[in-house]
Amino acid sequence: MRNFNEHTITDAVLDRVANAPVPRSKEISEALIRHLHAFVREIRPTQQEWEQGIAFLTRTGHMCDNKRQEFILLSDSLGVSMLVDAINHGAESGVTDTTVLGPFFVQAAPEKELGADISGNMAGAPMIVTGTVSSPDGKPIANATIDVWHSDDDGYYDVQQLDKIGQLAMRARFHADAQGHFRFWSIKPAAYPIPHDGPVGDMLKAQGRHPWRPAHVHFMISAPGFEQLVTHVFVAGDKYLDSDVVFGVKDTLIREFARNDPGTAPDGQIQDSPYYHLHYDFGLKRALSEAA
Ligand code: BEZ
Ligand code: FE
Repeated sequence: MRNFNEHTITDAVLDRVANAPVPRSKEISEALIRHLHAFVREIRPTQQEWEQGIAFLTRTGHMCDNKRQEFILLSDSLGVSMLVDAINHGAESGVTDTTVLGPFFVQAAPEKELGADISGNMAGAPMIVTGTVSSPDGKPIANATIDVWHSDDDGYYDVQQLDKIGQLAMRARFHADAQGHFRFWSIKPAAYPIPHDGPVGDMLKAQGRHPWRPAHVHFMISAPGFEQLVTHVFVAGDKYLDSDVVFGVKDTLIREFARNDPGTAPDGQIQDSPYYHLHYDFGLKRALSEAA
């Protein structure tokens, strides 16, 4: 077939994938073609706009390396990451809601003892975090692995300022105790803008949007027989809770980071300055093979 026009080209391209050997690849290819063609038909780009679109995607790719993943940032800021999350993680009783992983997770975070101060001497208001990890029916999960990471008082992660601070900080890996409890000290995190010095930042500007995320602490929790939980806990009252640039906020993940006067902290430590306290009880979903 030849001489395609605006009305015949879509079916011609669909015909071309009719013999895709893997059914799922065929389904995905067909949907991609249908939706991409419908998008182009709707916006009717000029040739110059098409070139700008290609240049945008090219810059997005060039911005990616082992420290920066601009395509994930694009997915996050267009709500695609949270759509995938919603499709794969519905709300379930006794199971903590999930949200985006984000780009600042580090595989090999330092292992710390329960109760450790992970602030790395960064300036900020002291914060104690306490919590529990349980199965959906409320039974403690002993020894669950808990990765935590968060931003500093100015909204920067350690990995964004390694040249300045010279070490990982405000992140660690813990193991819950026999009762599924955990606790650690750090500093209270601040809201921050996602990296917006690249194509995603240009897109946000063009869309009249701000790049900010409300302050939060990230958690990744795993234990044998349970699905890995990727989530954060957000600071109640943050001004960006309703306009998170990556659409990651769920009501169930918001907690008061309660301000306490100097005195005896929940772990028995004497604090001589005011400190904040976050408590969260996490529920893990049973892995499919275990739930049957
Ligand atoms: C984060 O919370 O670390 C994050 C999530 C998505 C995009 C950028 C940052
Ligand atoms: Fe974050």
